[in-house]
Amino acid sequence: MQTAYELRVSNNISDLSKEKKSIWHSKKTVSDSSVYITYKGADLQSGTRYYWQVRVWDNHGRVSGWSQVAFWQTAFLSANEWKAKWIMQDTVKLASSEACPIFRKTFIVGKKIQSATAYISALGMYEAQINGKRIGDAFLTPGWTDYRKRIQYQVYDLTENINQGNNAIGVTLGNGWYAGFIGWGNHNHEYGKYTALLFQLEIRYTDGTSQIIVSDESWKSSTGSILSSEIYHGETIDNRYEKEGWTMPDYDDTKWMSVQIFPSPGIDLVATYNEPVRKHEQFKPVKVFKTPSGEQVIDFGQNLVGFVTVKISGKQGDKITIQHAEILDKAGNFYTKNLRSAKATDIYILKGEGTETFEPHFTFHGFRYIKIEGLQEEINPENFTAVALYSDLKPTGIFTTSNSLINQLQHNIQWGQKGNFLDVPTDCPQRNERLGWTGDAQVFSRTATFNMDVHNFFVKWLKDLALDQLPNGSVPHVIPNVLGKLAGSTGWADVATIVPMNMYLAYGDKQILSQQYNSMKAWVDYMTSQSKNNLWNTGSHYGDWLFYSPSVDDGGRAAVTDKYLIAQCFWAHSTQLLIDAATILGKTEDVLSYTTLLNTIKEAFNQEYVTPGGRLVSGTQTAYVLALQFDMLPLNLRDQAVERLVQNIKSYENHLTTGFLGTPYLCHVLNRFGKTSLAYKLLLQETYPSWLYPVKMGATTIWERWDGIKPDSTLQTPEMNSFNHYAYGAIGDWMYRVVAGINPEEDGPGYKKIRIQPYTDKELNNVSASLLTNYGTVSSSWNYGNDKFHFTVEIPVNTTASIFIPAKNSDSIKADGIPLNAVKELQVKGYENGFVIVTSGSGKYQFTVDQGEF
Ligand code: BGC
Repeated sequence: MQTAYELRVSNNISDLSKEKKSIWHSKKTVSDSSVYITYKGADLQSGTRYYWQVRVWDNHGRVSGWSQVAFWQTAFLSANEWKAKWIMQDTVKLASSEACPIFRKTFIVGKKIQSATAYISALGMYEAQINGKRIGDAFLTPGWTDYRKRIQYQVYDLTENINQGNNAIGVTLGNGWYAGFIGWGNHNHEYGKYTALLFQLEIRYTDGTSQIIVSDESWKSSTGSILSSEIYHGETIDNRYEKEGWTMPDYDDTKWMSVQIFPSPGIDLVATYNEPVRKHEQFKPVKVFKTPSGEQVIDFGQNLVGFVTVKISGKQGDKITIQHAEILDKAGNFYTKNLRSAKATDIYILKGEGTETFEPHFTFHGFRYIKIEGLQEEINPENFTAVALYSDLKPTGIFTTSNSLINQLQHNIQWGQKGNFLDVPTDCPQRNERLGWTGDAQVFSRTATFNMDVHNFFVKWLKDLALDQLPNGSVPHVIPNVLGKLAGSTGWADVATIVPMNMYLAYGDKQILSQQYNSMKAWVDYMTSQSKNNLWNTGSHYGDWLFYSPSVDDGGRAAVTDKYLIAQCFWAHSTQLLIDAATILGKTEDVLSYTTLLNTIKEAFNQEYVTPGGRLVSGTQTAYVLALQFDMLPLNLRDQAVERLVQNIKSYENHLTTGFLGTPYLCHVLNRFGKTSLAYKLLLQETYPSWLYPVKMGATTIWERWDGIKPDSTLQTPEMNSFNHYAYGAIGDWMYRVVAGINPEEDGPGYKKIRIQPYTDKELNNVSASLLTNYGTVSSSWNYGNDKFHFTVEIPVNTTASIFIPAKNSDSIKADGIPLNAVKELQVKGYENGFVIVTSGSGKYQFTVDQGEF
């Protein structure tokens, strides 16, 4: 355990050890905090690199050495630092062609460089080069925010890229989310018609002088090989129009046009906060074949999001068309109907010189298959590589079991996350949608924290949410909001309270609660303002979206849940989360007033939706799950509600019937009320509707619908049939927290205090999970073997854990071969519902439990 820390910060690496010259020196500070220590030094300067080190003392009185030197660098701390002007191409030229504008600027350097830093943004998307080399490896920059309110810029270190003598900058702009087609209704120019560039390069010389290069009237503009680019429709590149060497200093640009100054958009420019989108896994074709209708198709074996890099050689003017699809239809033909109006097509035209390599710049596709047209030669699989593109979030979780179908489910959950965490959390990545749907994001957010470090990703997006919240507190259906006034759907808009709390629990960052508090409160107040007699029963809601709906009469048990019953439950849930946040932030008055509100919401729920005997007006799984999960029912009515839920599940022969809103809580409720083996039956169910049904049908991602492909191999309606929709992947949270048993304690968020409590089931023989937290790795693995139950737990440094060992009594347990009671690092705290509870500090512990005793 840490007992104290000492931090030192300097803007000069060699001054770090000199206390007097430091920017901040914390001195030895008695504290067990090792994350989220707030900087308390001198005011920071813009564009400056700060070096820092830390050392710690532990509970054995030892002091560590100083850590390796790390650094952070500030961006622009005030808008005045921007000297660049927004520039755009001549509007006449822009109006006459869809080609992506390119911009160019040369400059001379005559002195030795100490540092060179570029600050770049665009209305649209940009890709920049310096002296023929791509600047950075981020895609889809500057990322997606509500461009009416704020826009991000990225900062690049170009110190190593600048030549003595002549230099050139070249930048290409694409329509992106800003000017391209986005949202329903087949419309573009959501934020503006013309793309524009903002560029500033600051060069500091070793002699103490500096120079800045900014976008202004002196830049030149033209068009190049990208003839059109749209997120939904794809990109057309014609290499015959490539201006060879246009980002090199010696290129002749005398024929290029001058640029126009774009009127300043008057919005906040903010330094990028979340991790950029980058290239990740690459896939080679697993199968090249002709479909029954004669299409040339490549199968990459994985439904992914990104694009295909193609190498081709051929004649000048040869045109290759690559269309993307997620699935083949029943007959085995290439199927794109579910993409709706998204063309998802890249077109490449050859200049006819040697091997030409193509990949798009400002688009992405959700696909597993591509159809190739126009290729003059046999497909050589070597020449086609599918590249996955997603926000560069650190992978944190591993979950494996002895059941290969469950392992594939976990794989599918992770790929659902990869494919839909592209700067903002999207519903799906392939059809003409790809929007930051709030319901989907809230449903999946806690699972997401297990697979990757999504902290910055959601901090950024929650800021977007607060900015887009309507003046009356309602939350738009999608963030960034491109659907106008559509807002306030129960279970969707509750993203405003659910995600901040999930992030707080997973990462322990109190600031996310203070940052979002007003937004959380505004949403709860909105619901209250809409209510009458303490019932919120107005407005239009998606309800338990895409629940199982039997095609035949099922005797009145159809899984339709009253939308206002759901609304009352989520109103209560959001109010509870607001109370929790107020408690953590010390807002006592709010705690009191919202607790009173919560009681009235629950009382009204019981009067309106519950019979005196405890039956809910909707007899569905989702109704009982939400009522139980959110503690809507008085204690005396809960057991019978659980029984009704169990009977309902049994009446469907151990199948779920829940949609988007009930599904995430279904197994949690069963487990909480002692029905764990039924929860396992649902998890392991292989027939429709279930989590494993798509796995059995060959899914490599999570489907939007339980029956995207029906048991007879026909397809659900193309209007709403995505094969990469993470919402139902929310079961991942249950797998980590209940099957493997890895939990943060509410009073020790961010895994400062850990509870390891696996609920085992003999249907699974072997489970192994680990999670990289801010403190280090937490892991929990268990298996049955040799008449023993084996249980291995890893607890990182500077944390404590309560470990719940499934056993009848402590005498039956050995830790690392020694009787539990004799191990002094582990204190036996008692026995509870089938678990012996021990507390521990950091370390790795191997428990064995005599199965006879278990
Ligand atoms: C999206 C969903 C979203 C829903 C609202 C759909 O078009 O793909 O996932 O939550 O609309 O019901």
